[in-house]
Amino acid sequence: MTDDTTPPPNRFPEPGDRLDGATPSAETLTLLARRRSTAARAMQEPGPDAAQLETLLRIAQRVPDHGKMTPWRFIVFRGEGRNHAGAIVSKVFAGANPDAAEDTLAEEAARFSRAPLVIGVVSSVLENHKIPEWEQILSAGAVCQNLLIAANAMGFAGQWLTEWYAYSPHVRDALGLRSGERIAGFVHIGSPGEPPVERLRPNADVTYWDK
Ligand SMILES: Cc1cc2nc3c(=O)[nH]c(=O)nc-3n(C[C@H](O)[C@H](O)[C@H](O)COP(=O)(O)O)c2cc1C
Repeated sequence: MTDDTTPPPNRFPEPGDRLDGATPSAETLTLLARRRSTAARAMQEPGPDAAQLETLLRIAQRVPDHGKMTPWRFIVFRGEGRNHAGAIVSKVFAGANPDAAEDTLAEEAARFSRAPLVIGVVSSVLENHKIPEWEQILSAGAVCQNLLIAANAMGFAGQWLTEWYAYSPHVRDALGLRSGERIAGFVHIGSPGEPPVERLRPNADVTYWDK
């Protein structure tokens, strides 16, 4: 990884700094036009180092946020922590599936170990606030997308997953999720292995109001 993929801290503006209203960048357009997820199981070492992780988390949070509420937080799974999280997932799975085969349980235990780094983006909604919950949730989704784009621009592959365990009350409790919190995504990040192949992208219906 070259140094130019890690912006120095002084590239991050301070409140009140004058910024560009637009940043023409053919490279950014190309990245967005060609961005593709890589399956977590196809990811390899290395993942982002500590400085790159810090940059990723900082860039990820540069999203529109109605009311400046920061309605998200992160849980970073790396190193041995990935096995601890996987053990929780496997135990919960075994509880619900007492007849599960050993290799199925091993697969569940490896959920967080496919990629070198997994960033859990937690949507932390403040209920009954004047900013609608829907908007707070959308901001957390934007954080996930920023992570994918920033990881790609740093030279890493990414995949945004939830899988069954994001919705398991037992796993949520074990990960320390509180009331009003949901997993927006477990964003898997690592070095790309096998290059991804473009998928079908059906176009959305567009309605034009121009007269
Ligand atoms: C909120 C959210 C959750 C997702 N969860 C899963 C999942 O559990 N399993 C899966 O195979 N793909 C999941 N995906 C889709 C993957 O991110 C997938 O790699 C992606 O849609 C591929 O498209 P892309 O190459 O345009 O990124 C999820 C996507 C989103 C937005």
